[in-house]
Amino acid sequence: MSEKRPPLEGEVYYPSPEVVAQARVKDWEALARRADEDLTGFWAAEAEELEWYRKWNRVLDDSDKPFFKWFAGAQCNIVHNALDRHQKTWRRNKLSLVWVGEKGDVRTYSYFALHRDVCRFANVLKAMGVRKGDRVTIYMPRIPEIAIAMLASAKIGAIHSVVYGGFSVDALQQRIEDSESRVVITADGGFMNGKIVELKKTVDEAVKHAPSVETVIVVQRTGHEVRIEAGRDYWYHDLMKLPLAQPVCATEVMESHDPLFILYTSGSTGKPKGLIHGHGGYMTGVYSTLKYVFDIKDEDRYWCAADPGWITGHSYIVYGPLLLGATTFMYEGSPTFPYPNRWWSLIEKYGISILYTAPTAIRGLMRFGESWPNRHDLSTLRLLGSVGEPINPEAWRWYHRVIGKGRCPIMDTWWQTETGMFMITPTPVVPLKPGSGTRPFFGQQAEILDEKGDPVPDGEEGFLALKRPWPAMALTVYRDPERYKNLYWSQYPGKYMAGDSAKKDKDGYFWVIGRTDDVIKVSGYRLGTAEVESALVSHPAIAEAAVIGLPHEVKGNAIHCYCMLRKGFKPSEELADEVKAHVAQHLGPIVRPEKVTFVDSLPKTRSGKIMRRVLKARAQGLPEGDLSTMED
Ligand code: WT7
Repeated sequence: MSEKRPPLEGEVYYPSPEVVAQARVKDWEALARRADEDLTGFWAAEAEELEWYRKWNRVLDDSDKPFFKWFAGAQCNIVHNALDRHQKTWRRNKLSLVWVGEKGDVRTYSYFALHRDVCRFANVLKAMGVRKGDRVTIYMPRIPEIAIAMLASAKIGAIHSVVYGGFSVDALQQRIEDSESRVVITADGGFMNGKIVELKKTVDEAVKHAPSVETVIVVQRTGHEVRIEAGRDYWYHDLMKLPLAQPVCATEVMESHDPLFILYTSGSTGKPKGLIHGHGGYMTGVYSTLKYVFDIKDEDRYWCAADPGWITGHSYIVYGPLLLGATTFMYEGSPTFPYPNRWWSLIEKYGISILYTAPTAIRGLMRFGESWPNRHDLSTLRLLGSVGEPINPEAWRWYHRVIGKGRCPIMDTWWQTETGMFMITPTPVVPLKPGSGTRPFFGQQAEILDEKGDPVPDGEEGFLALKRPWPAMALTVYRDPERYKNLYWSQYPGKYMAGDSAKKDKDGYFWVIGRTDDVIKVSGYRLGTAEVESALVSHPAIAEAAVIGLPHEVKGNAIHCYCMLRKGFKPSEELADEVKAHVAQHLGPIVRPEKVTFVDSLPKTRSGKIMRRVLKARAQGLPEGDLSTMED
């Protein structure tokens, strides 16, 4: 394949003959060309590999752009494809989920067992009054019940809204309120770094101000004491013992574009956006991308080490692997507990063949040196993956050499909550360049544009845009379609604007640089400056605040806060620590600021907008740029 073409520029890793021999798609170029020429034909063929209650009349209905309708007229349910259909084949006896707790406890589920528990819990939800279209908030540790709760909701046509367990009261409350959930599913806690994460306490606080919530279902994970409010809170295990928790439950027939879940993500304003994904398009996109990129086979043991509470977990821990009938691995705790070899020992013990994680985790583990991974047999690995932020070439090389022993290609997948599925990504046979996600997935085209929407020359930085619709695209922003249209589709009419800056090299490889909006990627987590700022000003000492991200060796970026104090307060180390704790308590430990600096004034435009880019330039000792709009 690659023999005929001129060599690629820069540091290139070509696939080995072994990798090519086992790859599902050997001729990447040919399939890419076919998908390019016949986008709907490509996706219809992918969709044909799944089961539908009724087939579509049109693969893509684009009569109401940007609200594209994939598989218009079709009926399906993602859970039918993730669980029900496997019950008819030998896969009912295959492991669907292997789970390990931080304490070392293990639980495994066959496809049969997972289906049974999902049916039983779906019946519980129904008995609680949950109906098609109702919203269910899920706030859980990384335990099998998070997947069961998601699948049970989807099975009966309810819309799940998972809130990441690292978020705290304000973030959770805001998300419950926006979705008007009737039911919250949580746990008495989870284990992380040897400590209990008090999820139930956070729920109690958040629910106080969320009148929509009628019922809280609590999974017992830690066994320590938590408050149970009579008439509102129920133990999961009590409910699952009831006669109504029958192992048989019909899967609701959904229209292809009926909502499957809401996932909140941070943007430029203080209010997180509830992105909606639907059944038919999402299931097809996730199924197909996971199949081609991680090339999953029946003998694989696939581990995506993200949290199910983020899109990565939705698409590639829960739904994707189950759609493919694969064995997915889930680990509850921290990579460094009790020692920095925890992940490597799990790979050895469970024979993991595919590891998909984030650059921040790789950098974090790299710090402990090679001797930790080198004490373990990692020879079962055949593919590695990276997601969440750009991977710096040093981390890429370490991952490739020390973890993959130079044998395992690294799938650097660029995508977003909004895209639902991989957008710019290699497949195992694509030559790799450290730090580049290579080229767009089959059927997609990307380009780098300037402010006016004209393509910039190769090698120059610009705004990353996607040119063609794809099946797992978000349907809309929950109850705010205008926001969806304005945010993503109005900058360059007809094109999707990702909110990232990037470059394209002369080989057509894309290099994502970072966000162009007020989103900070901290350890791969997407956080909004406005949300942090509003938590800051809720502290009695703070009058005004501005938040920026600055480079951090392990986290990629870290949160730096500039705060103006109210009269009567004096800057001090203690106050700075108190402010950090305040933000962590309100929004969550992952949002804890790196540094709080007290200032007398903040750079603003004449219309009063804080100029974060000026703060950023100052902090880094860089030129401050155009200051003509700055107030005196
Ligand atoms: C943003 C989306 C999609 C899964 C997790 C993140 C950044 C994501 C990469 C990558 C460079 C990446 C972008 C993007 N990003 N993957 N492989 N290389 N940057 O989802 O929280 O919606 O964040 O993450 O900036 O816009 P998300």
